[in-house]
Amino acid sequence: MQLRDDFLWGGAISANQVEGAWNEGGKGMSVADIKRYKPNLDVEDYAGQHQIDSKMIKEAIANESTKFYPKRRGIDFYHNYKSDIALFAEMGFKALRFSIAWTRIFPTGEENEPNQAGIDYYLAILKELQKYKIEPIVTLSHYEMPLQLSLKYNGWADRKLVELFLRFSKICFEQFGDYVKYWLTFNEIDSVSRHPFITAGIVEDQSAKGEYKNDIYQALHHQYIAAALAAQKCRQVVSDCKIGAMITKLTTYPHTCKPEDVELALQSNLANLAHADIQIKGEYPELYKKYLIKEKIDIKFKEADKQILKENTVDFLSFSYYMSRTVSSDSSKEKTAGNTMTGVKNPYLESTDWGWQIDPVGLKISLLELYDRYQIPLMIVENGMGAKDTVEAGKIHDNYRIDYFREHLREMKKAVEMGVELLGYTSWAPIDCISVSTSQMSKRYGFIYVDQDDQGIGSLKRLKKDSFNWYKKVIASNGENL
Ligand code: BG6
Repeated sequence: MQLRDDFLWGGAISANQVEGAWNEGGKGMSVADIKRYKPNLDVEDYAGQHQIDSKMIKEAIANESTKFYPKRRGIDFYHNYKSDIALFAEMGFKALRFSIAWTRIFPTGEENEPNQAGIDYYLAILKELQKYKIEPIVTLSHYEMPLQLSLKYNGWADRKLVELFLRFSKICFEQFGDYVKYWLTFNEIDSVSRHPFITAGIVEDQSAKGEYKNDIYQALHHQYIAAALAAQKCRQVVSDCKIGAMITKLTTYPHTCKPEDVELALQSNLANLAHADIQIKGEYPELYKKYLIKEKIDIKFKEADKQILKENTVDFLSFSYYMSRTVSSDSSKEKTAGNTMTGVKNPYLESTDWGWQIDPVGLKISLLELYDRYQIPLMIVENGMGAKDTVEAGKIHDNYRIDYFREHLREMKKAVEMGVELLGYTSWAPIDCISVSTSQMSKRYGFIYVDQDDQGIGSLKRLKKDSFNWYKKVIASNGENL
């Protein structure tokens, strides 16, 4: 079986990692704008490094620097979107996944009227995409939200955020709905528990004593409700819309066949899938509910919540996949980094420069598992390899990246041959941008190189890497020519 004729080939970016212009066009400050440059993440304490306290926030607000806070400058997509989209079109993109910065539309999140300059900016992008017949896939919340909502409400821990997010989503559906049919609510919604500040604006020292963990799961609940209500609104406002959930696919293997390892892997996989279950089946899985009770997490459900979840499930499931994860009951095993979490080293796999283990077969496994479990269309909305690139006489020979993509796409096609219904594939990221976890520029994912270093020095000139022409051929042949 081949990929469908209308397969959505393309790339994925997020506002906070590419746009820059953090204080232009009436934009308010977002949680991403205060995320510091942190090149060396400790695999022993991955979560700890993503925590932010009130002191750090105050320092960041008082500091205008874009050097220490690289997401403020991004790659200046804000001013270069036309030429960047032209490059995507040159590769033959059928789709572009991008996100809307909440703070461009509602700078503090609480205004009654939206900021017209923000609406105009996204309309201009959408018109540009339309010019090239590139289908937009829009994420409403991708690791940025108004900082004000974090400070005032401790982010999504407060139910008020549901109302404010709906105000924002409604404007997006009304203003952009003529152009956008594919909508995603929360990027990697499951990551609230791994980095509560970036995903949900929760600041540890703002939680009442002993309530931090509870706040995290309460915030997640609020996001599920907001996602369901946004789906309902989208269906009322946008004709022919398709609304999807988005999770981090953390396919986890046991380090050995020792039953304790196998159980650990199963627990990890179930915990990951629970976030898709809730949005696809419209209810909390029984084991997840029992886990919450065991952990003494008391989520406040409103009377209508069960019905809201049940009646507004998603049309498709999208996910990011970068690597597989391995777990062991033996705590002495060597650890390695991964996407928003860590695991133990899998001896059968190679790693990227950042320790993420490369596992194309894991992508096939993920597709088969998800499709068999849910029987709804899937979309791969992030997959790629962060690497250090070198420019030699204006050229970037990134064979390692081509190899990564080739192997993953090969396995993806095998899953489709086996019967998986797959709507599209958007690579992360078609153009180099600021890393989410480390805020580095040198962790490069793109087919397009951006001349900027970690300190923000460089011409911002765009260069085509060898992978640019390779991906172009892949798209032109609908995945036949790998
Ligand atoms: C995903 C995020 O978790 O991983 C992206 O949705 C992110 O925003 C990507 O960029 C890669 O992570 P990193 O830390 O290498 O940028």
